[in-house]
Formats: sequence, C-alpha cells, structure tokens
Amino acid sequence: MSDANTLDQLRQQAETRAFITAELERRFAPEDDALRAALQAARDNNMPAIQISPLQGKLLQVLAAACGAKKILEIGALAGYSGIWLARALPPNGRLISLEVSEKHAAVARASLARAGLADRAEVRVGPGEQLLPALASEAPFDLVFIDADKPGYPTYLDWALKLTRPGSVIVADNCIRGGAPLRDPGDDPAMRAIAEYDQRVASDPRLVSVALPLDDDGTDGFAISVVRPTPQGA
Ligand code: DHB
Ligand code: MG
Repeated sequence: MSDANTLDQLRQQAETRAFITAELERRFAPEDDALRAALQAARDNNMPAIQISPLQGKLLQVLAAACGAKKILEIGALAGYSGIWLARALPPNGRLISLEVSEKHAAVARASLARAGLADRAEVRVGPGEQLLPALASEAPFDLVFIDADKPGYPTYLDWALKLTRPGSVIVADNCIRGGAPLRDPGDDPAMRAIAEYDQRVASDPRLVSVALPLDDDGTDGFAISVVRPTPQGA
C-alpha cells in the first residue's frame, strides 16, 4: 500500500474516533453550564488542562450508582470538575469529601461546586493526603474513592483507600496507563514507578477485582477500576 493510502486510512480512523467520542459525549455525558464553568475557571487560574473527560465523568457516576454510593472520597480536587460529576451521583443527603494540596486550587474547586449547587454535599479539605487521610477513619467507610492526585503518592493512596472502604466499594485511579511506560520498564521516574506499583498491586491484590482501561482520546491513558471483594480471593 502506498504511503498516501495509509495516511488516508489513518486520517479516516482518526475522524471516526473523533465522531464516536463527540456523539457518545452528546448522548451520554453532555456538559452543562456548571461543568463548562469549572473548565473555564481552571483556564482563568492557569491550572493545567488535565481534567477527566466527560465520558470518564459519566463512568464515575455509573460506578457510584452501581455501589449505591452515599459517601465518596476524592484525592486530588484540581478545579472541581470531577467533583461535580461525583457529587451529582450522590443522593441529597450524600457526601463528597475532596482532598486538595493546593489552597488556591481548593478555592477554585469550592467555587465550581457551589456554582453547580453542590455546596451542601461537597466539601474540599486542604492539605497533603498523608496528613488528611488518617483523620478520615471516623468518617469511613467510603463507597467510592477516586484517586487523581500526585502520582508518586498513588501506592500510599491505595493503602488508605483499602483502609477507608468496605466490601463492594469501588476504588478508581486516573492516569494508570500514562503512555504505556508503567506497563514496560518504568525506569527511574518516581511517578511512573509509583503507577507501575499501583497497577501491579490492584491487578494481584486478593482483596480486589480490578481492570485498567484506556479511556482517553488517543487510547494511551485511563482509569484503573477496582471493587473490594466481599471475601478476599482464595480466603
Ligand atoms: C497529570 C496529572 C493528571 O491527573 C492527569 O490526568 C494528566 C496529567 C500530570 O501531572 O501531568
Ligand atoms: Mg488525572
């Protein structure tokens, strides 16, 4: 096949993928003003454009519905975009606790959640995860934990997620594929090494049933999704 033909095929495949994504978003995960405002607030405050996609937000809602989530813990709030998706999956008396290391980001996230009418059920706590997580024991168990924070912290966040959940809870972590490096040799990069460890642990921990899926536009990053088993495998 000529290079021109191959290029044409690649272009068509990219167009098909873009069409499918746009159409699935339109049908299953349309953004409203509050979600768009959260993205705009991130831009206005020079925050990185690393939010989850609308379909990932909807997937979090589906998972929250599947486990009957009334209490959700988010580790890493950024501008509150994923927090809006998560808090909207809660019943009126439900609770989202979102942890954020940056005071500035936390303020943006709180404003985003308030604009979405979710201030009554969503709270953003400021500080490093290692400091805030031990204090959550009295508020556990959480039905769903979403990890989307500093990557070197992922193994520690998994330890806490396991402590703060119950059988049937769902633990989701963003960025578990990261271009494939954690699946090859992660090298010396602490972030890649930590994600490789996270992936390896959730794949083999007898307390969990897990899968990782490429979910972004180009299929090179996505969630690891784990459910806490009623009884550990092999027990
Ligand atoms: C980064 C962090 C994220 O949570 C993400 O989804 C993408 C990139 C980052 O720190 O580079
Ligand atoms: Mg992320």
